[in-house]
Formats: sequence, C-alpha cells, structure tokens
Amino acid sequence: MAFFKKYRSNLSDRIAAKVAKAFLDEKFSNKLAKNIADKMLNAESRLIKHKDIKSLQITLQRNLILNEHVRQNFDKGPASTKFIEGDTYSSSIIIKNPDVEDYFKILKPLASLEEYYEEYGDQIAKWYEEGKVIVFEKAPFKYNVSLLHEVEFPVGRNFQKIVTDDILEPITKKYASKDEPHSLSHVFRDTVAAGEFQNEVSGVNDQLRKFAKLLFPKYEFIADENLLWRFNPTYPQGIHIDAYSKKYNEVQTVRLFMNMDYIPRIWNSSHSLDVLLEKYYDIYGKDIDRSLPNEFNREFSRRIFGMVPSKDNMPKHMALFAPGTLWMVNSLIIPHEIFFGRRMVSASFFAKNESMLDPSKSFYNKIMSLDAVKKAA
Ligand SMILES: [Fe+2]
Repeated sequence: MAFFKKYRSNLSDRIAAKVAKAFLDEKFSNKLAKNIADKMLNAESRLIKHKDIKSLQITLQRNLILNEHVRQNFDKGPASTKFIEGDTYSSSIIIKNPDVEDYFKILKPLASLEEYYEEYGDQIAKWYEEGKVIVFEKAPFKYNVSLLHEVEFPVGRNFQKIVTDDILEPITKKYASKDEPHSLSHVFRDTVAAGEFQNEVSGVNDQLRKFAKLLFPKYEFIADENLLWRFNPTYPQGIHIDAYSKKYNEVQTVRLFMNMDYIPRIWNSSHSLDVLLEKYYDIYGKDIDRSLPNEFNREFSRRIFGMVPSKDNMPKHMALFAPGTLWMVNSLIIPHEIFFGRRMVSASFFAKNESMLDPSKSFYNKIMSLDAVKKAA
C-alpha cells in the first residue's frame, strides 16, 4: 500500500523472511538457530559503517547476547523434540529448558472470547495468580489482519512503545505540522490511512478489555489501564522482571500480550520470582528496602540480571509465539526478554488485591511477607 511510509523496512523484512522461511520449511534445530542468529548478525553488520561508535557498541553487545543465547540453549546438542511442543509455523513453539520450571499452559483455540470462560471458568485466573504463562493459540480477536501487517512504526526511541492515547488523539488540521505533529504522522502521510489504523487500534483495545473482564469476573478493576502498541523491530533487551511506579504497588496487574505480526514473536523467560527469591534473596535481596515492592523488584532484578544488556547466566525457555497468539503473564513475577519481534500490542489492567481469588498470592504480599516466609521455612 503506497501510502505507508517505509522505514528501514528492508532490514526487518529480510530478517522476517528468514525467520518465517525457517519455520515454514524446517524444524527448529541446533543448526537452524545458529543460522538465524548469523543471518541477523550479518544483516546488522552491514549497517554499522554508517553509524556512530555508540551504535557500533550497541550492535556488538547485541551480537554477544545472541551468540551467548545460542551457545547456552542450543550447543548442548540438537534441541530434543521432547522439549518442543508443536512444530509448525501456525502454532506456537515452546523450547523448554529442563532447568527452569515449566509454567506454560497452552490452550487450544476456541471460536469466541466468551468460550474460554465457559470452558475453563476461574481456572485461568487461578493459573494467572500462580504465575503461569497462559498461551491462547489463534486468539479469536477480530481485526483487519492485512491492514495491521502493513503498518510499521519508525525506528527510534520515541516509537518503541506508542501508548493508545497518542495513537487515538483526534486527527486535526495540525496532523503533520512542525510544532504539534500527531504521532501517527510519522507513520502515515495520509490521514485516511491513519484513521483506519485508529479504528483497528480501538477495536483491538476494546476486545482486550473485554477479554480481561471475561476471564477475571471477580476482579474489581480500577479505571487505570495501559495499552501499548509496539510496531517496530525489537531485539534482545536483557532479561528482567518488570517494575512499575509506586502507584501500582498495591494492585494486581493483569497483562495480555498479542503477536500482531505474520511471523513468530520470540520471547525468552527464566526462573519465576518465587524461585529467584528462594535462591537469591538472602544473598542479593536482604538489604533492599521492601516498603515499595516495585522498587524492590527494580533493584533485585538489576542485581540478579545485571544492567541491560544483561550478563546473566540464567537458563531460559524460548517461546516462539505464532501469529495471532495471545499470552497472559504477570511480568512482575516471570523474568522475560524479547529475543525478536516486530508487531505486538500489550495491555495492563489493574485490579484491587482484595478481589483476587487468593489475595495472599498478590505481588504486594509476596514481597511484604518475605521475612515471615523465610522464617517459617
Ligand atoms: Fe518487561
């Protein structure tokens, strides 16, 4: 579609094509993983000559992480099929590391959002509170797939995550003005195309809100929410547990992520917060102030995983979420990083802790009751 501006799309498309072909043609294997990493590195190194030294450093760090990832996860011999669930491009592939707890719950596709609660009832909320990663294959969301597959945000910090409020800001005559450009004016020259995209964003956001309410009917959600659209290539960022601002210390966060691309979104994860606290609290966590649980998480994550890019040696699962897959995970308690992905939407909703099925499982309580748990153990 001619009215979409293209920003460095050759690079991301080339990588995407390689990854997509790999999943279409062959099984994911030791050799193939290396091949993909090499192709990504080569494609990037060609860009280096035009960049400044800082970009070069970032690229080198990124390459080191990629190599390290391949070494850690695939050099132990061929990825055994027993750790692989699903082997086609149309369903997600989870390459499970036997050294990490298996917290994945993969749900078969159902025809409508309502059917998930009819089929599973409160079990999904229960799994979520227990820290499971719940994967909804081919989530039955309605949106204009081909339109969204054409959209590509510009590369750059300001466009890494665009919040819904900016996207849905009314389109006025100032759309492409110098002083107050609409954030979408950097993506679409044409205001009609921008309007069509806004309609899709509103529609998907509404379905995300509806899905959260359907699956967590007992939760008392507060008015606050955070919906992010990330429609540009994302590379390894360093594994971490999330930390929010202090206004979210005493609420339960419900997070949904959806792969809106036509290639898999590759995501790594590691030991849950419970396991990390069990293993490392006494060494790295004891002297961190726990009065603000999110601040505790920020510091504990920094100490365990190091600064971005992470130098961690944690064993990792690798999940390749198929196009159209939605996954729910509390990112405050499951460490994660994006390995590669291009188009996704994420939603955070917040509910009162008291309305949880089991309020003792709240993030707030996990951090606040640490000493008591340790003493009892
Ligand atoms: Fe995160």
